[in-house]
Amino acid sequence: MPGNIQFLTGQLRTPPMPTDDLTGRTILVTGANSGLGLDAAKLLIKLNCSTIVIACRDVSKGKATEDLLRAFSSQNGKKSTIIPFELEMTSFASVVSFTTRCKDLPRLDAVILNAGIAEVEFKLAEGYEKTITVNVISTFLLATLLLPILRASARKYSITPNIAIVGSAVHFWTDPKQLTKPASGQILKAVSDRQSADMKGRYFLSKLPVMLLVKYLGSVLEKSAQQDSSGKPLVVLNNVAPGFCVSSKSPPQINRN
Ligand SMILES: NC(=O)c1ccc[n+]([C@@H]2O[C@H](COP(=O)([O-])OP(=O)(O)OC[C@H]3O[C@@H](n4cnc5c(N)ncnc54)[C@H](OP(=O)(O)O)[C@@H]3O)[C@@H](O)[C@H]2O)c1
Repeated sequence: MPGNIQFLTGQLRTPPMPTDDLTGRTILVTGANSGLGLDAAKLLIKLNCSTIVIACRDVSKGKATEDLLRAFSSQNGKKSTIIPFELEMTSFASVVSFTTRCKDLPRLDAVILNAGIAEVEFKLAEGYEKTITVNVISTFLLATLLLPILRASARKYSITPNIAIVGSAVHFWTDPKQLTKPASGQILKAVSDRQSADMKGRYFLSKLPVMLLVKYLGSVLEKSAQQDSSGKPLVVLNNVAPGFCVSSKSPPQINRN
C-alpha cells in the first residue's frame, strides 16, 4: 500500500502505452461514456480490438458514445465494432439483466469495471448508501456474474481473460475503524446509516473494500477447482489505480476534513 509520498511521486510517472494487438478480442468497459472509460475504449480501438462493449446507464449517452467511437475508429483506420449495452449500477436488477445479455456475446476476453461515483450527498440505492452500491456491491456483483462467461471463453478459445477493477490509491486515506468497528456481517449496513455516514470521506471509504474484495476474490479464484492445464486460474483479476486524471467530474471529491 503506498504512503502519501509514493502517492504523489506516482503522479509524476507516466506508464508506458501498451502495444498489444487486440485483433479478434471482445472487451467490455463500464462507464464508457466519459472520463477514463471513454479513453480506455479509444485506446482499445487504437490497439485493433475487434469488439468493444460499452456499458452506459443512459441510453442516449450510450448511443452518442457509440457514434463517437465509430467515428474515432474509422478516423484511425480501424474496424472496431462498438456494441452499447445499458447498465444502471444503482439497480441490482439492471446488473443482472446486463450480465444475462453478455451471455449472448460470442466471446469475452476482458472486462474493465471502471464505472464509479464520488457522492457527497447521502442517498440510498438498493438499501445501501449509493457510493457503496455502485463502487462496491454492483461492481463485485458484475465481476461475479461475468466470471462464468469469461471462464467459458477461456476454455473455448484457450485464452486467459482478465477482470480489471478500477480502484484508487486514495483508499489508504480511509479510517479503517469505519470498516472494523461494525459487527461482523454488518459493515455495508453500518456504512449505509444516514445519521452516522461520513460523506466527506465516502469516496475513499468505498475504494478500500474494492481493494480488499479483489484480494479476497483473487484468493477464491486461486483455490477454485476451475484451473487451466498448468494449474492457474482461468481468469486473472487486477485492481488498478489510475492516479489523478482529468475526466468529466475529476478530480473525484478529495476532502480529508
Ligand atoms: N479521475 C480520477 O482522477 C480517478 C482517480 C482514481 C480512480 N478513479 C476511478 O476511475 C473510474 C472512472 O472515473 P472517472 O474520473 O473517469 O469518472 P467519470 O468521468 O465521472 O466517469 C464515471 C463513469 O461511471 C458511470 N456511472 C456513474 N454512475 C453509474 C451508475 N449508477 N451506473 C452505471 N454507470 C455509472 C458514469 O456514467 P454517467 O456519465 O451517466 O454518469 C461515467 O460513465 C472510477 O471508478 C473512479 O473512482 C478516477
